[in-house]
Amino acid sequence: SENVAEDFWLFGYGSLIWKPPPYYDKRLPGYITGYVRRFWQASEDHRGTPAFPGRVVTLVEQSYWESLGDTQGSTGSEQVWGAAYHIVPSKVEEVKDYLDIREINGYSVQYTTFYAAHPVSKQIRCLVYIGMPDNPQFLGALHPQDVAERINQSVGPSGENREYLLQLEESLKDLSTESGDVHISDLARRVRSMEPREGRPYGSQDLN
Ligand code: BEZ
Repeated sequence: SENVAEDFWLFGYGSLIWKPPPYYDKRLPGYITGYVRRFWQASEDHRGTPAFPGRVVTLVEQSYWESLGDTQGSTGSEQVWGAAYHIVPSKVEEVKDYLDIREINGYSVQYTTFYAAHPVSKQIRCLVYIGMPDNPQFLGALHPQDVAERINQSVGPSGENREYLLQLEESLKDLSTESGDVHISDLARRVRSMEPREGRPYGSQDLN
């Protein structure tokens, strides 16, 4: 049965879209509202290193985002598309432990309403990981060209930061015909116009 107390749903808006959590039995494309997705979170553990952190997505609460003077063309009230995962009830604790290990680098837990694409606008309470403004990895409003250059140069234990961005753009397109994100496609366009790792050849990962 749906929405009983033990039902646990997780909303992914970043790497979780193409790297699902363990022990899920349902995956629904859809969106949340009230947040803006931005590449404003530093990654020292996945797509960069402590010496040269990468850039990964976080969600910024709309009211806080409005105070930042971001000039990147959004209204702040658009849908943030992603995928909601239902976790097998007997594995919920195990998955929560796994996620704490996988996602801990500055993210904290919030609950929000998810709107499924099918059946249209079915609402589900979901857990979501947010990089809150007071976490040390949150960088605040960044210029898109600086973000693109950093993404193009950075690499970490999970792979190239560039691949994370291009994979995110691709996975978003696969969710729905409405699931594009102008901030993501703008960064992807900037990065595709650069040579991979331009200005920062392999072997220089530990230089500042
Ligand atoms: C996500 O895919 O939703 C996500 C992944 C890592 C940290 C926070 C969110």
